[in-house]
Amino acid sequence: MALSCMRCPAAAGAASARRAAAQPLATAAAVSFARCGGFGRSAAAAAACWRIHAVAPQGAKAPMDADVKHVVTPPTSPKVENGSPSEITLDDFEDLSALCKNDDSTVSITVVGASGDLAKKKIFPALFALYYEDCLPKHFTIFGYARSKMTDAELRNMVSKTLTCRIDKRENCSEKMEEFLKRCFYHSGQYDSEEHFLDLDKKLKQHEGFRVSNRLFYLSIPPNIFLDVVKCASKSASSVNGWTRVIVEKPFGRDSESSAALTRGLKQYLVEDQIFRIDHYLGKELVENLSVLRFSNLVFEPLWSRQYIRNVQLIFSEDFGTEGRGGYFDGYGIIRDIMQNHLLQILALFAMETPVSLEAEDIRNEKVKVLRSMKPLQLEDVVIGQYKSHTKGGTTYPGYTDDKTVPKDSVTPTFAAAGLFINNARWDGVPFLMKAGKALHTKRAEIRVQFRHVPGNLYKGSFGTDLDRATNELVIRVQPDEAIYLKINNKIPGLGMRLDRSNLNLHYAARYSKEIPDAYERLLLDAIEGERRLFIRSDELDAAWSLFTPLLKELEEKRIAPELYPYGSRGPVGAHYLAAKYNVRWGDLSAEHYKA
Ligand code: BG6
Repeated sequence: MALSCMRCPAAAGAASARRAAAQPLATAAAVSFARCGGFGRSAAAAAACWRIHAVAPQGAKAPMDADVKHVVTPPTSPKVENGSPSEITLDDFEDLSALCKNDDSTVSITVVGASGDLAKKKIFPALFALYYEDCLPKHFTIFGYARSKMTDAELRNMVSKTLTCRIDKRENCSEKMEEFLKRCFYHSGQYDSEEHFLDLDKKLKQHEGFRVSNRLFYLSIPPNIFLDVVKCASKSASSVNGWTRVIVEKPFGRDSESSAALTRGLKQYLVEDQIFRIDHYLGKELVENLSVLRFSNLVFEPLWSRQYIRNVQLIFSEDFGTEGRGGYFDGYGIIRDIMQNHLLQILALFAMETPVSLEAEDIRNEKVKVLRSMKPLQLEDVVIGQYKSHTKGGTTYPGYTDDKTVPKDSVTPTFAAAGLFINNARWDGVPFLMKAGKALHTKRAEIRVQFRHVPGNLYKGSFGTDLDRATNELVIRVQPDEAIYLKINNKIPGLGMRLDRSNLNLHYAARYSKEIPDAYERLLLDAIEGERRLFIRSDELDAAWSLFTPLLKELEEKRIAPELYPYGSRGPVGAHYLAAKYNVRWGDLSAEHYKA
């Protein structure tokens, strides 16, 4: 396989590789250090070319249990004296892994719910992009699994309609598409039939041959059938000699209790390490970059506290409503759909203490500490809204309750703004404001960091009376048109002394010619490589629900009426009052924002 999958900072990969190599290989093999050069140099790859015996841990119930200890017997090699794994150096390990190039293992990816929207729009295209970039292992097979009857050719035809070539990489694209489609197959079956999963298992085995088989199941299905599928896949289609992993996507329950019940259910068949809970916002380029920005630039990290930061704003808006998804959305609402997961995850990453390392557990430990230091939301910390119909330029845009799948008297919020606080030494008293809404005037996701005033500012005379307008603001625009910019005060050129606010601007499209990969590409590759950093651990999920559950219950029990706002507007006025309560102005609504 051509190792052109360029995804990783050598430092991170090398660090874990070194750590892995310092341990006896039995452990090293289980440690992922696949961050450099893609699959060809991953621990999984290295382990695969050795003779591996999967040994289930004591007390393991199901064969799907991936917490297997890989006992590695080194092949005969001049560099391996006495076959003693502990004597192998990193160089030997790399040589060997390069030598065998992962030829002995295979990955089978089963997309359960293959005919659904998510699979068509995101998962298959992301898998193709990974294939195009040579990021998938040499031996891989993709199976679509769903109830409807379909042939392999029909699946390929369906998938081919959603595949696209990267703008910056069109070379051989249609050829690559053909090759990719040949690796896609379909299996029709019920979601709760062990027998049908057994049939799938037989087909997977035919493709895997005698290789070490690793299996990834992507559950692109409604949550009420997660457990059926996990049970059947676990009993009938898990790998017997490699790993088995399951990707699940929200909603992970509706509140603390239902989420805990789902986790308990999943853990009847899987161990925590096998469960990859996706929050696709964690796979977005600028969210990934948050920690880089903060921890690798001296100009930011020292400012990252209550001493210099006045407030942080996490803003999500979409310029379209819930059309077509009303049925799903009405059971969840914007707080569960966006705030409790996407925005809260960004907040935790933003606010965490410096982790011990970039390893998944170290990062997730810090994130969970942030979540556990936060005060659960109260009704008075929140404003909710719901969009109503609006006519503009002769076009009438429907209100939320105009959707036939939504009850006419629904009080489900399509907009919410909230003020959260982290009760720890770093962030005490700093408001973290969240705002999320559908059918607003713009589509945007951003993080805005507003800094405090400059004490005793020599130039305050030049700012007029509104000193707030002169504070620095760091904006991380997650989408669209990715950018990072810092608003600074600057002298307007000329003989006088007039200041204005200008942007130090890192505009991604201008700076980088490479197309930004979709979040699903990064996350799928991570799941294949066993990198858990960007996936939600169950204790994180519990902590996240604890913050929102009391509020959600109160909103629903009291049937609190949302403030109506017109489709395409800037949302309910209540959001301004809420911000004012914390002495904050929304950065995205300032006049300058429109000039920027
Ligand atoms: C999903 C929500 O998680 O994220 C949707 O369920 C929302 O309601 C979507 O539209 C937004 O994702 P993105 O990547 O398009 O910003």
